[in-house]
Amino acid sequence: AAPVRRVAPLALILLAACDGPQSALSPGGEDAIQLGWLFWVMLAGSVVLWLFINGLFFLVTRRHPHPMSRKLAEGTIVAGGIGLPLVVLTSLLAYGLSIMPHQREPGDGLRLRVTGEEWWWRVEYWPEGATEPVVSANEVRLPVGQRSDLELHAADVIHSFWLPGIAGKTDMIPGRVNHISMEPVEAGTFRGQCAEFCGLSHALMAFQAVTMEPADFDGWLAAEAEGISENARQAEGHAIFQEQGCGACHALRGTEARGEVGPDLTHVGGRGTLAAGVLPMTAEALADWIAHPEAFKPGVEMPGYNHMDEAELLTLATWLEGLK
Ligand code: CUA
Repeated sequence: AAPVRRVAPLALILLAACDGPQSALSPGGEDAIQLGWLFWVMLAGSVVLWLFINGLFFLVTRRHPHPMSRKLAEGTIVAGGIGLPLVVLTSLLAYGLSIMPHQREPGDGLRLRVTGEEWWWRVEYWPEGATEPVVSANEVRLPVGQRSDLELHAADVIHSFWLPGIAGKTDMIPGRVNHISMEPVEAGTFRGQCAEFCGLSHALMAFQAVTMEPADFDGWLAAEAEGISENARQAEGHAIFQEQGCGACHALRGTEARGEVGPDLTHVGGRGTLAAGVLPMTAEALADWIAHPEAFKPGVEMPGYNHMDEAELLTLATWLEGLK
């Protein structure tokens, strides 16, 4: 019983790690559920095989009053060495292949285009009949119960779009268009991460996925398509934004800021995180980020604005945080 007492807490810790917003084993999407099943079936299969092989090992190595006949030994080798792997591996291959096409099928629901850039995500929604996209960044929102189609691009190097709680993972390759489709089954917040080494801040290239009931999603998308409000346009924060030339790199729909180098900031305050999953979306974090982006994301293209006056910086950050 002593080894069990020692091993049990460890097993619990390992299983606890299977939960959370970035786990294929606490699925919130059709494909993640199937991938979860594939994992458990393979785990169960490997446990059975492990027990079987150890049983055989035990059988042949213990001292036996009647040594195994040559015929039986040959039969065991053929059955265990060829027959069993053939059946087990072929079944696993067939099972694995049977769930794969589903994710490769283009969805008939919402269309999105996601572009991986060093080190953030450009996210464009193309609702039915739209002639131009609703642009956002570092957050993917998906309606529950529909199979959305994500067109994956890369702007610079290879990235990989990985959202284990909803579906699988697909590489984003420059000059090539890949697709992944996904169908959330429940409303919630999940975490995604770039899964292909893409440079210095690869580990800091995450995003949040928010799955919503279709009616909530439609309301959100309609609001997201709007530019910034008249009030926001008149605010002091906007004047500072213009003065500092932020619009050269960032777009703010409804203003003359049309920069396309960095993330669209029209509704930046409505996102759950800042800088692609690196910081919480608060005015303080925004101020820190604007002044010293390099401190949070080494190698980032955004220059630091630490020359700005403290009060001015906070006014700008508070104004940005208010753009929802
Ligand atoms: Cu992008 Cu790793």
